[in-house]
Amino acid sequence: MSIAISTLAFFLFFNTHLGHSLTNDFVYNGFLGASLSRDEASIITSNGALQLTNQSQNIIGHAFYSTPLRMLNKNSSSAANIASSFSTSFVFAIVPPSPDGGGHGFAFTLSPSKQFPMAEHSQYLGLLDQSNDGKSSNHIFAVEFDISNGYEKFADVDANHVGININGISSKASKPATYVNGTGENEEVKLDSGRSIQAWIEYDGVKKVVNVSIAPSSTPKPSQPLLVYSFDLSLVLEESMYVGFSASTGKLTSSQYILGWSFNMNGVSRSLDLSQLPSVPPHEGNGSSSKLNSTTIIAIVSSVLVLFFLALVASVALYRRATRSEDLEDWELHCSHRFRFKDLYVATKGFKQSEVIGVGGFGVVYKGVLPSTGEEVAVKKISQEGTREFVAEVESLGRLRHKHLIYLQGWCKRKGNLLLVYDYIPNGSLDNLLFNPINNFVLSWEQRFKVLKDIASGLLYLHEEWEQVVVHRDVKASNVLLDADMNGRLGDFGLARLYNHGNNPSTTIVVGTLGYMAPELARTGKASPSSDVFAYGALLLEVACGRRPLDPNYGSGQIILLDWVSECDREGRILDAVDPKIESSYVREEMELVLRLGLVCSRLVPEVRPSMRQVTRYLNGDESLPFDGLAGSDYHRLRVDEMNSIFLDIISRDEINKSYHSSSFGGASYRSLEAGR
Ligand SMILES: *[C@@H]1O[C@H](CO)[C@@H](O)[C@H](O)[C@H]1NC(C)=O
Ligand SMILES: *[C@@H]1O[C@H](CO)[C@@H](O)[C@H](O)[C@H]1NC(C)=O
Ligand SMILES: *[C@@H]1O[C@H](CO)[C@@H](O)[C@H](O)[C@H]1NC(C)=O
Ligand SMILES: *[C@@H]1O[C@H](CO)[C@@H](O)[C@H](O)[C@H]1NC(C)=O
Ligand SMILES: *[C@@H]1O[C@H](CO)[C@@H](O)[C@H](O)[C@H]1NC(C)=O
Repeated sequence: MSIAISTLAFFLFFNTHLGHSLTNDFVYNGFLGASLSRDEASIITSNGALQLTNQSQNIIGHAFYSTPLRMLNKNSSSAANIASSFSTSFVFAIVPPSPDGGGHGFAFTLSPSKQFPMAEHSQYLGLLDQSNDGKSSNHIFAVEFDISNGYEKFADVDANHVGININGISSKASKPATYVNGTGENEEVKLDSGRSIQAWIEYDGVKKVVNVSIAPSSTPKPSQPLLVYSFDLSLVLEESMYVGFSASTGKLTSSQYILGWSFNMNGVSRSLDLSQLPSVPPHEGNGSSSKLNSTTIIAIVSSVLVLFFLALVASVALYRRATRSEDLEDWELHCSHRFRFKDLYVATKGFKQSEVIGVGGFGVVYKGVLPSTGEEVAVKKISQEGTREFVAEVESLGRLRHKHLIYLQGWCKRKGNLLLVYDYIPNGSLDNLLFNPINNFVLSWEQRFKVLKDIASGLLYLHEEWEQVVVHRDVKASNVLLDADMNGRLGDFGLARLYNHGNNPSTTIVVGTLGYMAPELARTGKASPSSDVFAYGALLLEVACGRRPLDPNYGSGQIILLDWVSECDREGRILDAVDPKIESSYVREEMELVLRLGLVCSRLVPEVRPSMRQVTRYLNGDESLPFDGLAGSDYHRLRVDEMNSIFLDIISRDEINKSYHSSSFGGASYRSLEAGR
């Protein structure tokens, strides 16, 4: 029991953000290609600055990190929640229409939603309106950088201030914008000077204190925060929160930019590389002035010059882009696995919803019939820029051929989508046949044993028999499909690696599925053949026992299949773990072999797991499993302090189910309805 809990905690410790963001640590030095959801006035300028508002009156702009973050955890020793610590820094610039200054401001915001349909501009900063201002149902935490005077009823200290707002627009704590300068004096930071300013916000979830600091971006972080505010954020936040910025203008306006942003949960955010940040866009003219005095003439002439220059830059960029896309066509022509978009469009009836046979993993899968040959295919649509590197990788995966792998026939890229074309496999996934069979169909032991051997040989091919090592990274029952003759075929290999190519290389996305994920993979994000072996071990147990690797529907000692099987084994009753649906119609030696091999493959230390070659030798009876009662013995290597039992409560059925089902392909009968990750 205690082993069960601790191993569960171990899994959860590294998997608490499944279904949310797995990377809670990001740095954007400029926002080209950033994963942001923007709306209304908010745009990314061509040099990569995030412009929240321009100088139009009464507008709003939002930009949030696209994936929500899990901000609340249960306190194991009380019923209360603990809000996660976080640390963030960003560089911003507020450019007023004239040197006299502009108006309104923006707020760093944590909000349960990234949409604010009712929100108003001006003093409401695009977050709230009169009717909900101050209500605890808002669940909003914001740090405002405000350049408007103590408006009407809002008793803001100064026209140039920084404040902490909880659920409402009047600040709980606020101070004039200053920092302690080199001579130890408080020096004003004029927020709307148009110059870049850096801000740091830290929340300590244990001490429950928010710190806010600002300084001109040319100076280091001040030793003393501007605001130190004691507050327990768990009273405000919800479990799932979006993080980002909201800004507005009113009668008075300014262009508000974020130039770089770093964020980290439960750790110190990484430093921004100031030299890489986009520069503050040049002062925008008034445009609406009617009096033609000499300054406006100069302004007009210079804006004409600026416009001319911008047009020049833009046309050069367009020209370059056009020629670059011709290059692309050039090299694409030499790729033997390329499909024409038109054919795939026709094949899938225009990517019609009714043709969807699976959702999850990396994208949506459609069934299609190729117009030229009448062949049935599965077409997977991934939203991902098809870089040359990416395509090269797909080309190389397209050369993998093994009867127990699902053949990747080819690809096509189109407007930020990558389409991958696979063989269509009619009988659906092993996951479905085990857990949602049609007409109570029970997969026999003979079929199960065969499928396990098939998948082992497919994995062996990926690991050792091809010209380069291919790590699958997401071996699980929903990625095992059964063909018309009930042969097992493994799909989705290598995709995780592809997926990582297109992303910011400084962030590692941990790809995998709860319960199949080797501890070292969860910890470091580094997949290896032996992390595949771990997942294969989980699959062995799952198939023999007819239970998912983690299943909260079972009692506490049995939630983690691995622990339960090893406990049965220690007590000399390993066959108690066998799927009751097969009754006693199985070959005892084979069953014991599969269960024990499952335990051996699932050992926590990667070095002691067998290779896939050894695994196939054991399964084929070429070698007998050296079994010395080691099951479970190395669980004790887990360091207790790594297992924070507060994560126990986080396990939610939804999340586990979601990750199990996200298969990439599907048989005719298979339709998984969850949204993709
Ligand atoms: C400013 O943003 C508003 C709202 O998105 C937009 O309608 C307007 O055209 C923008 N003005 C300029 C000068 O870009
Ligand atoms: C911009 O317009 C305002 C009022 O419309 C005016 O007071 C200000 O001088 C103008 N600034 C410039 C740079 O023309
Ligand atoms: C620090 O700020 C004070 C007050 O604004 C100013 O007089 C002093 O010159 C500043 N020192 C430095 C090194 O900039
Ligand atoms: C907040 O500021 C206080 C006072 O300077 C400091 O003791 C504390 O460590 C800071 N907290 C964080 C999370 O930076
Ligand atoms: C968790 O709850 C205990 C008991 O109420 C309390 O002493 C402790 O401070 C809480 N921990 C956090 C991080 O809030």
